[in-house]
Amino acid sequence: MNVFLASIPLDGRSAIVVGGGEMAVAKARLIAKTSALLKWFAPGGAPEEAARVTDRKVETRLPTRADFEGAALAFVALSDDEGAQGVIAEARAAGALVNVVDRPELSDFHTPALIDRGEVVVGIATGGSAPILARDVRARVEAALPDSLGVLAKLAGDIRETVKQAVPNALARRRFWERAFRGRPKDLATAGDVSGARREMLRLLNAGAAPQGVVWLVGAGPGDPELLTLKALRVLRDADVIVHDRLVSEAVLDHARRDARRIYVGKAKGDHAVPQDQIESILIEEALKGQRVVRLKGGDPFVFGRGGEELEALQAAGIEAHVIPGVTAALGCAAAAGLPLTHRDHAQAVTFVTGQAKPGSPEVDWAALSSAEHTLAVYMGAGQAGRIADRLIEAGRDPLTPVTVVVNGTLPEERVVSGRLFELELLTTVHAVEGPSMLFIGRTAALAASQAVEFSEGVAA
Ligand SMILES: C[S@@+](CC[C@H](N)C(=O)[O-])C[C@H]1O[C@@H](n2cnc3c(N)ncnc32)[C@H](O)[C@@H]1O
Repeated sequence: MNVFLASIPLDGRSAIVVGGGEMAVAKARLIAKTSALLKWFAPGGAPEEAARVTDRKVETRLPTRADFEGAALAFVALSDDEGAQGVIAEARAAGALVNVVDRPELSDFHTPALIDRGEVVVGIATGGSAPILARDVRARVEAALPDSLGVLAKLAGDIRETVKQAVPNALARRRFWERAFRGRPKDLATAGDVSGARREMLRLLNAGAAPQGVVWLVGAGPGDPELLTLKALRVLRDADVIVHDRLVSEAVLDHARRDARRIYVGKAKGDHAVPQDQIESILIEEALKGQRVVRLKGGDPFVFGRGGEELEALQAAGIEAHVIPGVTAALGCAAAAGLPLTHRDHAQAVTFVTGQAKPGSPEVDWAALSSAEHTLAVYMGAGQAGRIADRLIEAGRDPLTPVTVVVNGTLPEERVVSGRLFELELLTTVHAVEGPSMLFIGRTAALAASQAVEFSEGVAA
């Protein structure tokens, strides 16, 4: 470690920016977000953007020693080296730390890549050797930190003394803070309910207040872990218990805490490993124990995922529950295949439809879905491909309508095959569809990117 990251208190102090170029504007913008008083000197004239950065007047002269009194930091971004030397000397003489923009060798400090969450500030430094790498690291860390972190830190600051008095034992106090930062107060702050978060922190202070469980119904997307939302990733990392389906990939589960308990409730076609009512009971039981439960579902929980039933059961049991959407298979597979679901020239509508209705419920009205300018994205349709094609053709859909099948979409073993509606069944069987598959029917299916195997040609060869 050849640099040391220290945090400099800025309350009641000023920070000076000298210069009027792009770099000076960037530094002024940075300082304007802090509690320091920004004093900006642009001897060549105030830049146009200045009014959008600060409502304070920009001085069009060089600063003097007096201007640096009480300054914690000075950023010097002048093209004139000689002028800069004088400013640096005055700033140092007044006790300010100096950063000469883009000149690390002349600076008292470098500016790390910063993540700003209000009270919580994270800095990433490489000692000036790889600033772009620092920015990349920042992007990754940033993704893991919720915006509510600052709110939480502010609340903690507000009640710190009260907690110290109420919980004199240091270990018990640590436990309290862990629960406050990982538990319900954090959830409430994340949901934007700041006063709720404060109330919950105070409730936890009452000795013996049992932690309240929560269930997150989370969409894990079609398989590629990079398609998880930032929110999904965050709750997954926080979960005590993960209840997951067959279609949730290992790569997604790898993002969970290593000590989180995993409960597999996967269902294969025709083999209902864990009945739905039992899944709901597991969620309720775990939440009642005070656990933070993530119910991880392939794709989106509310698209052919029975998320609605689970949410109803949780609400009926009085359990706090939240839903985090995921990239549904139709969207993930269409994107992976380069197949636009709507297109001004080919499809004015898209329908997500299941090929396998609930036993005993009426068949999908295929006739209503048979118009030419319409894309159908069929879930769970591979086993029913022949019947679906027959119904659509009977209802008037052209047998030569393009179709595309995406198997294991977004996963490393993804396959894309294209053909015509009349041969849909053959297409799914010849390609021995293994793994989940989406059927796309409509003129847009012909636009699937060129990597798709053209089925009719394949048969002819
Ligand atoms: C029970 S549904 C769940 C759908 C899920 N909730 C969603 O929003 O994607 C399962 C069906 O989704 C489709 N599916 C899910 N993941 C897929 C993938 N990676 N590639 C292709 N199809 C997929 C298949 O049609 C599979 O039979």
